[in-house]
Amino acid sequence: MVIVMQPNASEHELQGVVEFISGGNAEAFVSHGVNRTVIGIVGDVEQFDEHHLRSLPGVADVVRISAKYKLVSREHHPHRSTVRVGGVPIGPGTVTLIAGPCAVETFDQTLEAAKMARDAGATLLRGGAYKPRTSPYAFQGLGPLGLRILAEVREATGLPVVTEVVSPADVDTVAEHADMIQIGTRNMQNFALLQAVGAVGKPVMLKRGMNATIEEWLMAAEYIAQRGNLDIVLCERGIRTFETQTRNTLDVSAVPVAQQLSHLPVIIDPSHSGGRRDLVLPLARAAIAVGADGIIVDVHGAPDTALCDGPQALVHADIPLLATAVADFAAATGREVA
Ligand code: E4P
Ligand code: PEP
Repeated sequence: MVIVMQPNASEHELQGVVEFISGGNAEAFVSHGVNRTVIGIVGDVEQFDEHHLRSLPGVADVVRISAKYKLVSREHHPHRSTVRVGGVPIGPGTVTLIAGPCAVETFDQTLEAAKMARDAGATLLRGGAYKPRTSPYAFQGLGPLGLRILAEVREATGLPVVTEVVSPADVDTVAEHADMIQIGTRNMQNFALLQAVGAVGKPVMLKRGMNATIEEWLMAAEYIAQRGNLDIVLCERGIRTFETQTRNTLDVSAVPVAQQLSHLPVIIDPSHSGGRRDLVLPLARAAIAVGADGIIVDVHGAPDTALCDGPQALVHADIPLLATAVADFAAATGREVA
């Protein structure tokens, strides 16, 4: 961390800052430039609050040199990681397709969607048993019954299961049934939930909060990592902007940026970002082209009757197109379909 003093800062103010830093478990190194004096802090920089340092008399700016997140950063782990979910890799060199229903409604509906997913080349099944809904009157998911259905469909299809948990109280139950635990956009900064999934020892998919910066997303991942779990996959699922034509705005630049800052794999959800069936394939192609390590896609056998997010679910007729898009764009970017 470097403190930049104001051009007119007095010697007394400079000494005040140096003494403040030396009073902690750190050393202050002063460099006098032509116009400015800067103070480099070496040692335990985390003990200092940036806002407080900025408020010290004579200070113009505080520049952080190393990232706030540690365990998930490329500084900590220079090579990009691969996370394995029931043996399926998500990481560099491969493109992983995760597909399934938005919500588990019945065994037959989930099995049909899982077969659609498999036909598209998916190697992981998605499906929500606990649904985070805007309205308390909307379908909230089948809960434990939904988890049992997912386990039965995994048995029938061989597809490992990715499913969301919305409450710390349900983490153990969800972990018993899931191969990967999903944290949704609405819970990205539910710190108790992040810590609970970090402690449970299953791979975690962490969706980006719809209002979160990339740094906040990585800090959320750090909460999971700090509990001893580095099997984390980041998922960009669109952010809130002024645009109303789409449900959210897919931030494709988040993929290369997050991959530069963090060693964790990054995937994209083209279904929840666009919120429209006609946009899923174009956004899926964009996701793979920009280097996403995978995509997670909603599919439904009868979306008109779906209890959640029917308008964004791909239908039977879209399945061969999805398979082709994944295969072609993986090959075009020099990767294999996982
Ligand atoms: C889906 O998986 C979410 O639960 C859903 O997108 C929530 O949105 P809504 O409750 O606003 O429909
Ligand atoms: C989901 O994938 O089921 C979901 C709820 O997505 P998001 O958290 O991105 O809205």
